[in-house]
Amino acid sequence: MVEYRFSEKFEKRFLELEKKFPKRSSLVMWALHLAQEDIGYITPAAVDYIAARVGVSPAWVKGVVSFYSMFREKPIGKYHLNVCSNLMCQLMGSDKIEVCIHEKLGIKDGETTPDGKFTYTRQVECLAACGYAPAMLVNNDFHELLNAEKVARLIDELQSK
Ligand code: FES
Repeated sequence: MVEYRFSEKFEKRFLELEKKFPKRSSLVMWALHLAQEDIGYITPAAVDYIAARVGVSPAWVKGVVSFYSMFREKPIGKYHLNVCSNLMCQLMGSDKIEVCIHEKLGIKDGETTPDGKFTYTRQVECLAACGYAPAMLVNNDFHELLNAEKVARLIDELQSK
């Protein structure tokens, strides 16, 4: 198995976080965020490494990874389109957003464009933006009150970057 360890930048951030969490198991989520930011997704080697650094079992860490949809276990595109699949967004037309993404990029739920630029995820729980539905998260940026035209424009902008 390929070994993993935090790069210098993330090691520094982990050491700062360690001071804030006397209960070491509370570090797991933070360590996973660091690893994901560091290498893009959570590898089995990262699970083992974090378990060893925090002092819990790899099964504990793996359980956290598999429970939270924000953690990824495989590479994704540069832009991760997360369309809310909950009731309010569905009522307000999130299906049309999905159709737009499929037509513009040729990808369905869970797929990545061949150029590695976009990944689309539909099974995203409420993004806590129900009053501005339908909503979509692109990486860490919220996009609200969407319709197909806005999404098409956004995709064009991201494609030109
Ligand atoms: S239902 Fe979509 S943000 Fe809450």
